[in-house]
Amino acid sequence: MKPKILVTREVFDETLAYLAAHCEVESNQPDQPFDPAALAQRLKDKDGVVCCLTDRIDDALLAVCPRLKVVANIAVGYNNIDVPACTARGVMATNTPGVLDDSTADLAWTLMLASARRLTEAEAYVRAGDWKGWHLKQMLGVDVHHATLGVIGMGRIGQQIARRAAGFKMRVLYQNRNRLPADVEKSLDVEYATKDQLLAQSDFVVLQVPYSPATHHYIGAADLKKMKPTAILINSTRGGVVDDAALINALKDGTIRAAGLDVFENEPKLNPGFLDLKNVVLAPHIGSSTEATRRAMAMTAAKNAVAALTGGTPPNLVNPDARAKS
Ligand code: GLV
Repeated sequence: MKPKILVTREVFDETLAYLAAHCEVESNQPDQPFDPAALAQRLKDKDGVVCCLTDRIDDALLAVCPRLKVVANIAVGYNNIDVPACTARGVMATNTPGVLDDSTADLAWTLMLASARRLTEAEAYVRAGDWKGWHLKQMLGVDVHHATLGVIGMGRIGQQIARRAAGFKMRVLYQNRNRLPADVEKSLDVEYATKDQLLAQSDFVVLQVPYSPATHHYIGAADLKKMKPTAILINSTRGGVVDDAALINALKDGTIRAAGLDVFENEPKLNPGFLDLKNVVLAPHIGSSTEATRRAMAMTAAKNAVAALTGGTPPNLVNPDARAKS
């Protein structure tokens, strides 16, 4: 008998075809998100789940899904999954690293360029019919080229963000839990800095640390005050890494110049204070959202799930201890 798998949100046809070759699949192509009770109801007789960052996989859910062997997240971040609870119950948890690095780095750069050159403000002005002609001081922005970029979180995506800075002739500082080996620093042309040094010296601060209790409000009111008043903050990682209420105050009172945000606390119900500000570029968590990358992410998750359900080791297992127990 084929193992039973639930796919919690809409995926691509080839994702379902691959899963169907190995599993009995229950899909959700209408893409109506399941609330916790509906998710528990659908998952209770399943051996695996392909899920998204909108699904909370916690111990209460695992407790009513005794057959579950694998939780395959279609995302590199997995703060929606209680990994220790999965490990304790012998459930493998997997993510999708690697395939989204370049697309996510491109989006961080999109936010940098758009906020430096006031692109969304400029577009709204043109669309509103307010553009009456050219003048010298119109929509003055700041230069990205030759500026200092500070990358906080120098994992795979952070490194791709840093690499792109060479073309803009930028100085790049970085902060990471562990300092990179000297040869890697050299090949990326980046300088290690403390958090305070990076905040004080950077013209653009890009956040790429994963969200966890340790990085909750990693940037708060006191940190924003350490930044240059001309600096721009980019959050392309996870809501909660920034204290959004403090950021709104800092954008209002000129503590920093601008922000570019793809992620928010409590998204999609972001703090309405952002909507009234001209000096913030807002995007709806689309860091990895290109056709090719989202297809690759969904297929990576499907392959992780099938590997786990057919006796193999998923390539992107985040809790190897669960494998021993399963
Ligand atoms: C998206 O936010 C991801 O973690 O892949």
